[in-house]
Amino acid sequence: MKIYKVKNYDELSRKAANIIAAQITLKPDSVLGLATGSSPVGLYKNLVSMYEKGDLDFSQITTVNLDEYKGLDGTNDQSYRYFMNENLLTKVNVPMERTFVPDGTIEDAAAACAAYDEILNSVGTVDIQLLGLGHDGHLGFNEPDDHFEDGTHCVQLTETTIQANKRFFEKEEDVPRQAYTMGIGGIMRAKMLLVVASGEDKADILNKVLTAPVSPQIPGTILRFHPNVILVADEAALSKTELA
Ligand code: GLP
Repeated sequence: MKIYKVKNYDELSRKAANIIAAQITLKPDSVLGLATGSSPVGLYKNLVSMYEKGDLDFSQITTVNLDEYKGLDGTNDQSYRYFMNENLLTKVNVPMERTFVPDGTIEDAAAACAAYDEILNSVGTVDIQLLGLGHDGHLGFNEPDDHFEDGTHCVQLTETTIQANKRFFEKEEDVPRQAYTMGIGGIMRAKMLLVVASGEDKADILNKVLTAPVSPQIPGTILRFHPNVILVADEAALSKTELA
């Protein structure tokens, strides 16, 4: 794992955006694996401004997102489709028909997951998968479990995740209890993983991800088995590791 220690969230956002920009420049028809949450917001802003300056072209890019809340459609401002459109996809020249997010409106979980796996198979190998880290070590919405899931599946969100994500909703009851997420197998098949972690509240989990035995109870530990991982983390997030 290659670790870049940066000062703060601003620097993290620039560094991570530069890595994705390099990928797009070197391979204009890249498949980008994208993520939601607050960690990547700054890097998306940087990508948009590089695009506006004429330094990046998304016209041949395909994007696949990690996850979506079950029950929310793309017009709901809490859905991950809405988040992606707002933060990146409608602000650059990626063809919308080549941007994919699991469809939260499909009620039948098996059908929704099979449909997304079919999309993932059809777009081919993800060149670079962006990942944030949940407070319980989740990747996408792969919550702590007794095994690693391979394909897209429906998950019951943990109490920690509901608590962490309620800040985006009006009331806690509004946070969906289930989500569709790409599996750990799907994530691990990407050629490169770019993990971003910022802030003191990620310090404990980041230390565990880097040092605890690899286990589905802390899904992020699996990252250590991927041959090509870049972690960009700020001083606060690294404050409980030996890199502090
Ligand atoms: C959500 C998303 C994850 C994300 C995580 C961390 O639960 N499903 O993909 O990595 O939150 O979010 P944040 O970056 O806001 O800490």
